[in-house]
Amino acid sequence: TSVAILISGTGSNMQALIDHSTHNECLYQVKFVISNKPNAPGLLKAQSAGILTKVIDHKEFKTRELFDRQVDAALTINNIEIICLAGFMRLLSGWMVKKWRGQILNIHPSLLPLFKGIDAHKQALDAGVRISGCSVHFVVEEMDEGAIIEQGTVRVEPKDDITSLQEKIKLVEHKVFPKALDLVATGMASLHSICYVKLK
Ligand code: GRF
Repeated sequence: TSVAILISGTGSNMQALIDHSTHNECLYQVKFVISNKPNAPGLLKAQSAGILTKVIDHKEFKTRELFDRQVDAALTINNIEIICLAGFMRLLSGWMVKKWRGQILNIHPSLLPLFKGIDAHKQALDAGVRISGCSVHFVVEEMDEGAIIEQGTVRVEPKDDITSLQEKIKLVEHKVFPKALDLVATGMASLHSICYVKLK
């Protein structure tokens, strides 16, 4: 299965997906990395792993859909089957989400459906939860909605702040994202067969 990863920043989850794909038994290959930020550090990491990269700067497009159409064209030319959003800080348009329905995965740093949105770690600390974690889910139009594929947990300690919680959750993310992608790449999870959750 050919996978593309969309990033905006560090790319530590991208790196975890790439590292996992180098195992012999892995059923997916990371073929392409796209960043909407020209200076995303993840671009260099992808290049060092020998993966084709492309910058598509969202600022050059008048609407979200025009940007997405450019991304879609690049993915299609490269025969991509699954898209992983790994710290990609743009909402996808309805057009894009419909076109790639069941083929886009996102990772979010909370135990969904709790704490959707950009400040998930702060929301978790403010709520005083003792357990948090991360979720990999299929992407639908609404932010951080869509069937959950896999989750991982961390304990929240009294001394934790946003930075320490981010670091702890990232360590779990790096295990959970490859596992979720494996499930989708092998056909063990799909939008139609995760029947223990209400599908959108
Ligand atoms: C992760 O915490 C992920 O959950 C969120 O953005 C962050 C990306 O980190 N969506 P990285 O670029 O993979 O290091």
